Amino acid sequence: MHKLHRYWFALFLPALLLELVPAQPGDRASIPSQIPGHDAILLGTDWYPEQWPEARWEEDLRLMEAANIKVVRIAEFAWSRMEPSEGRYDMDWLERAITAGAKHHIASVLGTPTAAPPAWLTANHPETLRVQPDGQRVTHGNRAHGSVTSPLYREYCRRIAAEMAHRFGHNPNVVGWQIDNEYGYASMSYDDLTRKLFQEWLQKKYQTLDNLNQNWTTEYWSQTYDSWREIPIPVGGHNPGLMLEWKRFVTHTWNDYQMNQIDQIRQYAEPRQFITGNFMGFWDGFDHYIITEPLTFASWDDYVGTGHVDPDRNGMTHDLTRGFKRENFWVIETQPGAVNWHSVNNFLNKGEVRAMAWQAIGHGADEVGYWQWRSALNGQEQYHGTLVGSDGTPVPLYTEVQQLGREFSAVESELRGTRVVSEVALLNSYDSRWAIDLQRHTSRYDQMALLESYYRVLNRLAQSVDVVSPYAPLGGYALVVAPDLNVLPQDLADHLLEYVRNGGDLVLGPRSGMKDQYNALLPQRQPGYLVDALQGRVEQYYALEADVPVAGTWGQGRASVWAEQLQAASPESQILLRYGKSNGWLDDQPAAITCAYGKGRITYIGAVLDDKLMDAAAEWMVQQSGVKPALGRVPEGVQVSRRVGSGKTVFFLINFAAEDRHVDLAHPMKLLLANRTAASVVLPRYGVEVLREGP
Ligand code: GLA
Repeated sequence: MHKLHRYWFALFLPALLLELVPAQPGDRASIPSQIPGHDAILLGTDWYPEQWPEARWEEDLRLMEAANIKVVRIAEFAWSRMEPSEGRYDMDWLERAITAGAKHHIASVLGTPTAAPPAWLTANHPETLRVQPDGQRVTHGNRAHGSVTSPLYREYCRRIAAEMAHRFGHNPNVVGWQIDNEYGYASMSYDDLTRKLFQEWLQKKYQTLDNLNQNWTTEYWSQTYDSWREIPIPVGGHNPGLMLEWKRFVTHTWNDYQMNQIDQIRQYAEPRQFITGNFMGFWDGFDHYIITEPLTFASWDDYVGTGHVDPDRNGMTHDLTRGFKRENFWVIETQPGAVNWHSVNNFLNKGEVRAMAWQAIGHGADEVGYWQWRSALNGQEQYHGTLVGSDGTPVPLYTEVQQLGREFSAVESELRGTRVVSEVALLNSYDSRWAIDLQRHTSRYDQMALLESYYRVLNRLAQSVDVVSPYAPLGGYALVVAPDLNVLPQDLADHLLEYVRNGGDLVLGPRSGMKDQYNALLPQRQPGYLVDALQGRVEQYYALEADVPVAGTWGQGRASVWAEQLQAASPESQILLRYGKSNGWLDDQPAAITCAYGKGRITYIGAVLDDKLMDAAAEWMVQQSGVKPALGRVPEGVQVSRRVGSGKTVFFLINFAAEDRHVDLAHPMKLLLANRTAASVVLPRYGVEVLREGP
């Protein structure tokens, strides 16, 4: 079994066993991202006291408190201030900032500053700067310039993390830690040392070169390796086995990098202080299921960039982040109106920032933090949105955020002990994403778009969807959908088959079940180890030049981008869709098939379907699996989410449509924001209501 997968199996084994006696959804007692003694949901901001005279802090904190801000993240870029010269630490100012915050009932989260090593460090030790794929060392003055593999850089990171943890690990006003910042965008140093570490990592994993050569089929183009030292770092055009392992090595390296700091914090800090990292949604620089494993909970930085919030894509990304640890999370950064780094840095509309924040909470966030409080007068991000202007007084958006803070405080007790519980899971596999993106076969194949096409329809019908690793415990889900599970080794197939055998409903999308853990083609047709259960297989795949007509149980429509010619091998395997006239090969051939297996069902959809067909397919899926909407029918444009636990059920309604929307409820509920009981709600554009089930 692949090492990483063995690791995951060991991790999930206790949970898999627990599945036999399912717990009541939402009733696990403690929520790691809710801090005892603090509000269950928090409004936050990212504050850089080191950039301002100390005399100014009081006014900043007064304005924060007036906006109901309860938490600040600080220090994640303040290395040169905390260690102005080698080994001379100055943390007194930071302690004063933390204490000043506490006087305004604001708790602190400390970021370790390792995304921005100071100039004395990189000047004295240029080897701590990373080397780019072209062999050039980066220069000082940006960020994420440290070399993740440099032992010396790691040593400096260890020391600053230890120093901070020693100083603040018992500080009552420090509630937690963030490691680094966005984990250096997974940048690697392309130097001899990294190459050696990669080779050693491969040796540990494969044990023998024979094993490696065989699994990578290195006879191909004379790649056979006779020594570990011959193996290159792939920089493009390399063997698929090598390229996938490099991605896993990147994950391993960044995990090691964070553990170097986490170990120090755990050693000196009280266990009540959480440890998180700020991730970037679907960005796939490393395997987030592995990286988030040692963290208390996951956080993410939710930026829209150009345009406006796409509620499905944003909701799906919250669900992804929640799925990393299958727990509530924080949105530790989000944009106060606009960013400074996209093509058109337009401002979000009035009300949109508030709607976005409530959407985060509805999907399981326990904190929403605005990056940043106030722009430094100079530095790279002068144009970015803030809550106060360069003159230190509130910008127009401040009032909207202040309202949000008031609302958070008003309803927070209703959300204590609640989390999102879903009947539907979408599977997200980094191995598969990498394997497909390394060999797209058609530049038009967009995995995110495909995932989103399933999410949109399933979320509309179920009103609650989890996005989880394929190795997650699946027993609690009525429906599990894997849009393109390309890497599907035997152990994963067994995991999925067990789910179906016990009554689960599994739907696979195109390109599923093609590769093993070495990114080698399986010696079976797709979906590989699931062919017998499906009683069918893929005869041939086609990258499409033009759309192809399809018709069947789900109506008529078109397939685009990718089409697989399926075969139903027995009468048990039912054909749901067939292709119409196309390239001759596809004409009248099956495009989607389904088969009962054990107490459940397995379905294979071999094409990228148009929106109308996806609607019908999703209707069929929820009917087959018995999935019910969390709340009930709502008008188009209204997003629903639900949190449950501690005896409470709370719904969130947000109108992202341009016009007012009228929502009828099945029975009267307490409207927590309007503070009244009613059986219907009228929501203007960006309008939000939070509903409590029961009296
Ligand atoms: C990222 C970083 C922040 C800041 C913001 C700006 O998320 O973590 O430090 O640069 O982007 O949008």
